[in-house]
Amino acid sequence: MAPFATSSFMFVITVLVAASLIEVAAAAGGFYQNFDITWGAGRAKILSGGQLLTLTLDRASGSGFKSKNEYLFGKIDMQIKLVPGNSAGTVTAYYLSSLGPTHDEIDFEFLGNTTGQPYTLHTNIFTQGKGNREQQFRLWFDPTKDFHTYSVLWNPQRIILSVDGTPIREFKNLESIGIPFPKNQAMRLYSSLWDAEDWATQGGRIKTDWSKAPFLASYRNFNADACVWINGRSSCRGSGTSSAWMGQQLDITNQQRLQWVQRNYMIYNYCTDRQRFPQGFPKECTARS
Ligand SMILES: *[C@@H]1O[C@H](CO)[C@@H](O)[C@H](O)[C@H]1NC(C)=O
Repeated sequence: MAPFATSSFMFVITVLVAASLIEVAAAAGGFYQNFDITWGAGRAKILSGGQLLTLTLDRASGSGFKSKNEYLFGKIDMQIKLVPGNSAGTVTAYYLSSLGPTHDEIDFEFLGNTTGQPYTLHTNIFTQGKGNREQQFRLWFDPTKDFHTYSVLWNPQRIILSVDGTPIREFKNLESIGIPFPKNQAMRLYSSLWDAEDWATQGGRIKTDWSKAPFLASYRNFNADACVWINGRSSCRGSGTSSAWMGQQLDITNQQRLQWVQRNYMIYNYCTDRQRFPQGFPKECTARS
């Protein structure tokens, strides 16, 4: 008995050590491992051994990054701390997108404001190259004081956008009534900080105050429980309970939280903009499902 007990004990120790090494490697490699800086000539930086990424914007340029992987479904979380102080004119975009004229896209865009005035969180969903599904929100906290988690859950039945675990928007798969749903094109994750003073803040009336540049946004704790698309094949991470996101939907509690956000924090909804759709709202707005 003794030799067996010893060797299984050693085996357990070896597995534990190996597991913790893998975890450390994954954590430390975070941004280096998962992202490429694509824009900004040094204005985007990966810091703290890969745990932190910062984007900056000045008069000459903004900056941005994209994921090394393409995903086809997943639950993707990122913590972001937005540009503080007078961020008027700045836009921090954070989105998933495929390529080409019939691309799919899932957008978070944070529109800055003057000091003390609220950010606008602008969202949109494109399917087969067609967007025009804007919803805008206020946040129930100051997104510049701390990091907050912005999440996309994307599975074959629905897309759910969440802020700190609270759902703010759901886009259901309504292919049954002829609305395309993103499910055949892999998407990459992108983020950028750029200047849009012509329209971003209070309809473009408030311009960027360049004396406050460089503007800075920070990112940490990226996590993707997702299917990675490699050479035309999808390889999904996690199995059993860790891929529960694949079938996830809003339970009663989360449906109520979504309604709470939509009642109290939604400031624009294309589905209620009659002027824009005088001939009737898009079908997904009136579908019961
Ligand atoms: C900025 O603040 C003004 C005044 O509170 C508000 O009307 C506007 O929606 C805010 N956001 C943007 C992006 O302009």
